[in-house]
Amino acid sequence: MVRASILGLGSYVPDRIVTNDELRFLNEKHEVCAEQQTETNDEWIKARTGIEQRRYVPNDSGFASSDLGLFAAKNALEDAGTTAKELDCIIFATLSPDIHFPGTAVFLQSKLGIDGETGCACFDIRQQCSGFVYGLQMADAFVRTGIYKKILLVGAEVHSHSLDYTTRGRDVMVLFGDGAGAAVIGPKETDDAKEGILHTHCQADGAGAMDLHLKVFEIAKLPYVYYDANDREQNQIKYPQMNGKKVFLNAVRNMVVSVQRAMREANLTWEDIDWFVPHQANLRINEAVVQYAEIPPEKALNTIQFYGNTTAATVPLTIDHYRKAGKVKKGDRILSTVFGAGFTWGSAIFTV
Ligand code: UT7
Repeated sequence: MVRASILGLGSYVPDRIVTNDELRFLNEKHEVCAEQQTETNDEWIKARTGIEQRRYVPNDSGFASSDLGLFAAKNALEDAGTTAKELDCIIFATLSPDIHFPGTAVFLQSKLGIDGETGCACFDIRQQCSGFVYGLQMADAFVRTGIYKKILLVGAEVHSHSLDYTTRGRDVMVLFGDGAGAAVIGPKETDDAKEGILHTHCQADGAGAMDLHLKVFEIAKLPYVYYDANDREQNQIKYPQMNGKKVFLNAVRNMVVSVQRAMREANLTWEDIDWFVPHQANLRINEAVVQYAEIPPEKALNTIQFYGNTTAATVPLTIDHYRKAGKVKKGDRILSTVFGAGFTWGSAIFTV
């Protein structure tokens, strides 16, 4: 039997580690100032989110999301034992695209050296923290219908450039980090009915759209950028805005139901699943999901402590982190459940 499978995985995080203690001294150029810039502290961040540190790209204006995606993609291609030339489709999930248009997948295609008249299909998807599971569902369907044979799915984010490094933005600013994860998906011949991508489902609730958003501009307005980006009285629009408590409650509720739906529809028990890899937005969200969905706690993998929330990258980054640590092994079966802006959410069950 032929199934769509993850053939290889990779990830990338920049070298610069920003601890909670350092974060409060950073200005918007990511310079460490003598005076504290944001009223926050390690104790609050750790207790409310579980985050201890995050990674930032160098502050030299040299890194876009496609650059982080490129590093992760190269690692995933190597892991899959294949090359970029073999790809016939790229799906790029990000909320921090290189520019407004075209999408970031085409920039990555060029950086991989596979642009040109015979270039592969390139998709950008906009499901924020749910991007990896949404992309996996697309890739699974493409492979199973034979439309594409070797798909590169990338989640990559440069968050650190678009955060508000003042007390005004602290609820959101402390959460996010830069990073990328990638997977190569293709057909795999197997006799094992439980190998490959076994299940995906994706959902959304547009009623929550403005509870977590970043406008930057409004196309309905003339002019569509209608504020002075450097004026602190006006420029909240260029930073993410979040109704934290509402997002938190919706995340827990929908992730719990989504875990249960995935297990029911795939007809599996926790005996069949090696690891639960949830989106990494807040350790307290993930602990609540584990409790209410009755997931064996020792099967839950978290990396938010080390990387913060890297949005579309969290799932492949977490799997790769624990593969490198020797915990996740080839052939292990993973249930991944995500929730993010939109609201969007979903689950996938797959082997790695
Ligand atoms: O990835 C997409 C999905 N995103 C999420 O799932 C995030 C969901 N939301 C959350 O994770 C949490 O709501 C937060 C971590 C954002 C906030 O935690 P909370 O326990 O809901 O805190 P809160 O917003 O109720 O704030 C409690 C207090 C407030 O002060 P007062 O009004 O009680 O005096 C805040 O101003 O904590 C204050 N506060 C902070 N203090 C220090 C908010 N942010 C900070 C901060 N440092 N960074």
